[in-house]
Amino acid sequence: MTGTTGTSGTDRACERFRSVRSRTEALAAPLGPEDQVVQSMPDCSPTKWHRAHTTWFFEEFVLGPHAGAAPYDPAFRFLFNSYYEAVGPRQPRPRRGMITRPTVDEVAAYRRAVDEGVEALLDKGDPPPEVVDLVELGCHHEEQHQELLLMDAKHLLAQNPLRPAYAAPADAPEGAVAAGDAGAAPVDWVKHPGGIVEVGHGGEGFAYDNEGPRHETLLQPFSLADRLVTEGEWAAFVDDGGYHRPDLWLSDGWYAVQDGGWEAPLYWERADTGPSGWSVFTLGGLRPLSPSAPVRHISYYEADAFARWAGCRLPTEHEWEAVSPDRSAGAGAAWEWTGSAYLPYPGFRPAAGAVGEYNGKFMSGQHVLRGASCATPPGHSRPTYRNFFPPGARWAFSGLRLAS
Ligand SMILES: [Fe+2]
Repeated sequence: MTGTTGTSGTDRACERFRSVRSRTEALAAPLGPEDQVVQSMPDCSPTKWHRAHTTWFFEEFVLGPHAGAAPYDPAFRFLFNSYYEAVGPRQPRPRRGMITRPTVDEVAAYRRAVDEGVEALLDKGDPPPEVVDLVELGCHHEEQHQELLLMDAKHLLAQNPLRPAYAAPADAPEGAVAAGDAGAAPVDWVKHPGGIVEVGHGGEGFAYDNEGPRHETLLQPFSLADRLVTEGEWAAFVDDGGYHRPDLWLSDGWYAVQDGGWEAPLYWERADTGPSGWSVFTLGGLRPLSPSAPVRHISYYEADAFARWAGCRLPTEHEWEAVSPDRSAGAGAAWEWTGSAYLPYPGFRPAAGAVGEYNGKFMSGQHVLRGASCATPPGHSRPTYRNFFPPGARWAFSGLRLAS
């Protein structure tokens, strides 16, 4: 994909590069070598693989073409390429957990070597703007993997019968539960008059290619909830037989419910203690259901069924963008499913070459999520940001906001 950084000094680029790279290492630090190698399902990747793949990205797209650097290890091109057909063959995604060698320590050394190469390139006088732009793209790419690292670590730790915590509750991305939680305030509805609005990225600063071109679109009048749906509201949906009423579900969703034996969001467990009867696994370990906490780890199908049960619907991605909910009012806790299919904007053109495979080739069979989650690196998202997942995916920090 292509991004534009505008005018950024190389000092700033270098500082940003160092800060993103060290944040990944800090996120991996609570995970031991054993934690970092196991792959808990085909969609997840081991922590070690994330650390190596984000490094490969800089090597493949920055150091190789722009510093003439020989590969650190030619085999890493096969092991740590994710999905770039133009780069060549690669380890199949479902078998990333089989890469027990190189070891965690060897991957750490790989990271250090590539860090030195990129920093030397940025330090060398005036690097060409395309190099600065590619480093910026690599930093945004690595930030996406920082969230994936947490998603995947959570899924892995949830498979352990001891349900170990990644961090102390207060330090975990979901945060600690407030004592005496009585539920969230009633929803206020933000009314929008509809009409022709401009959507998509068109300004200064970095954006992914899938956020543009900026263009006009026609909205009908609508209302958008001022906060996310909560765990307490979701428990009411469960208690009302939400997972047992086919009339609430899309056909594919109903099949997913039967096939997966879904009775609640991912990471909810029946509990003998507590008034709700549910425990929720978080990166801070198991905790009682929190009535005011935004519900997370639901599929598009579940979000859609809940909205129907509530007499509402999901917003389209452009309704969401037209309102751009205030993050301080509870947004940024979970990615928000929209009713919009992930499709190219009018005039969309992916970048030439391998980086053009970043976003464009995934524009089929997926739905757009807007906002940001508790696991998204600060400052990574934007009002025009388009996250996307297949409709059955539940391991992302995904929730919903109602529209009508
Ligand atoms: Fe990647």
